[in-house]
Amino acid sequence: MKSLFITGTDTDVGKTYVTAGLAVTLRKMKVDVGIMKPFAAGKAQKKGYKSEDVEILSKAAQVCEPESLVNPQFFAMAASPYTASKSLKVKVKKATVLSSFKKLSKLHQMTLVEGMGGIMTPILKNYYITDLIKEMKLPAVIVTRTKVGTVNHTIMTVKMCQKYKIPIKGIIINNFDSDGYSVKSLKRDLQNLAGVPILGAIPYIEDLSDDSLYKTFKKNIDMKSLIN
Ligand SMILES: Nc1ncnc2c1ncn2[C@@H]1O[C@H](COP(=O)(O)OP(=O)(O)OP(=O)(O)O)[C@@H](O)[C@H]1O
Ligand SMILES: [Mg+2]
Repeated sequence: MKSLFITGTDTDVGKTYVTAGLAVTLRKMKVDVGIMKPFAAGKAQKKGYKSEDVEILSKAAQVCEPESLVNPQFFAMAASPYTASKSLKVKVKKATVLSSFKKLSKLHQMTLVEGMGGIMTPILKNYYITDLIKEMKLPAVIVTRTKVGTVNHTIMTVKMCQKYKIPIKGIIINNFDSDGYSVKSLKRDLQNLAGVPILGAIPYIEDLSDDSLYKTFKKNIDMKSLIN
């Protein structure tokens, strides 16, 4: 069973919601699933993990691993790791991220790694999310949305993965926008244009409870392809 890197066409596209849904569903399928957010950024939470993403993902996977392992670096500003490290004058902990991922992958059958922003979010000069995925030796899942503009963003993301020879497991359409393409036409066009499997589309999710996530993902996502 291979771990997966969940990337997206942009920030706020639904990577955390999708990763949480996959974690709950895999857990219910009796897969021992771990989670990781290598770098997180934004306003620190007062309680629990500093990163809200890590909080959501840990709850979904039902793990309570040390913050240093699941989120080796937190930047207290909403920016890419590169920009945040420059602005806050701190070093990017790339080696710690890679060693933490190695540890996590030994602890679980499968680890879901949530990316930061999109595929070309900079981490260091000349080192992007693509380089991190390559070093982690992971296949990618691409989260996209239905808002007009998504076809451009999705094709760019797929092409960059291909340029870096990152295997793509497939695309998950997060259908939470109230306007934009219909899922049917988007599936048709992305399949034709990008030539990558569409693993399914998830609708607007009311709450992040186990029940709600499990029902939604079991019904709408090709979970078998994800674990094979
Ligand atoms: N399927 C959905 N149903 C309902 N709301 C959603 C859904 N997907 C995303 N959202 C909303 O959009 C917000 C952003 O989603 P999410 O946090 O998953 O994005 P992200 O890609 O992980 O962002 P980041 O780059 O900051 O990690 C969520 O806080 C939630 O309000
Ligand atoms: Mg997120």
